[in-house]
Amino acid sequence: MSQAKFESVPLANLDEWEEDLLRRYPDPEAIATAKATGEYRNYESPARDTVKEFYRLNHTYQTWDFVQEKRKDFLKFDKKEMTVWDAFDFLNQLVDDSDPDTDLDQLQHLLQTSEAIRRDGHPDWMVLTGLMHDMGKVLCLFGEQQWAVVGDTFPVGCAYSDKIIYPEYFAANPDFTDDRFNTKLGVYQQNCGLRKVDMSWGHDEYVYHMLKDYLPEPGLYMLRYHSFYAWHREGAYDYLLDDHDREMLKWVKLFNPYDLYSKSPEPPDWKKLRPYYEDLVAKYLPATLKF
Ligand SMILES: [Fe+2]
Ligand SMILES: [Fe+2]
Repeated sequence: MSQAKFESVPLANLDEWEEDLLRRYPDPEAIATAKATGEYRNYESPARDTVKEFYRLNHTYQTWDFVQEKRKDFLKFDKKEMTVWDAFDFLNQLVDDSDPDTDLDQLQHLLQTSEAIRRDGHPDWMVLTGLMHDMGKVLCLFGEQQWAVVGDTFPVGCAYSDKIIYPEYFAANPDFTDDRFNTKLGVYQQNCGLRKVDMSWGHDEYVYHMLKDYLPEPGLYMLRYHSFYAWHREGAYDYLLDDHDREMLKWVKLFNPYDLYSKSPEPPDWKKLRPYYEDLVAKYLPATLKF
């Protein structure tokens, strides 16, 4: 398995985090269908230990200082330069080959997301956003720990909301007892806007910066905040938002079901789809992307 070389890897693969998201936020349509056919079970199965351990690490180590350090390093974009197509091949090294039958590779998740957006007739830049939204997971291939790549994101530099999954694990985070960071607003001003707020470090923030010159503003919000469940699903952090964030929230919410509920065991036919995506990528993105 490609991630075996890193220490502390509680998740067998990155998808375990997303499977747990589906448990927390089940597809309302699937529930409705299952209820109609009498097959619905609201199983309150305890989260798998691997997922809990993953969040324990994430909440313990995502400090203000950690985020500044990662931003300084990765936002230089001096690691690699690739065409989008080579970047997909690179990202696909993250496939969990211990279970090839059930796990789709990363490109397939991206294509299922973008194709579901396309089928519903949304603008082409949103289709491209779907295609690119998890590209930041290449961080794993640069040696980053799982808890610094995936997982729900949240603001750092101010008190953690109890709407974040497993809030009790923040007690072990040094910022939790640091007076600079543990008040409601911390280092921020009331309603300063999320653009002035530093989020926990991971694939969302990274891909946002990678693509920030190429997609329209709603697409950039989708990239940057797609794992900020405490905001877009739980309504937390209203005191940090400005009117622009409230306007953009609609788009983040529009995007989320395509990410969560487009998974199907049927792999997309990449050969057939490729010409469309070649045109789409050429329309918006430069010949190569910097990582
Ligand atoms: Fe993601
Ligand atoms: Fe995703």
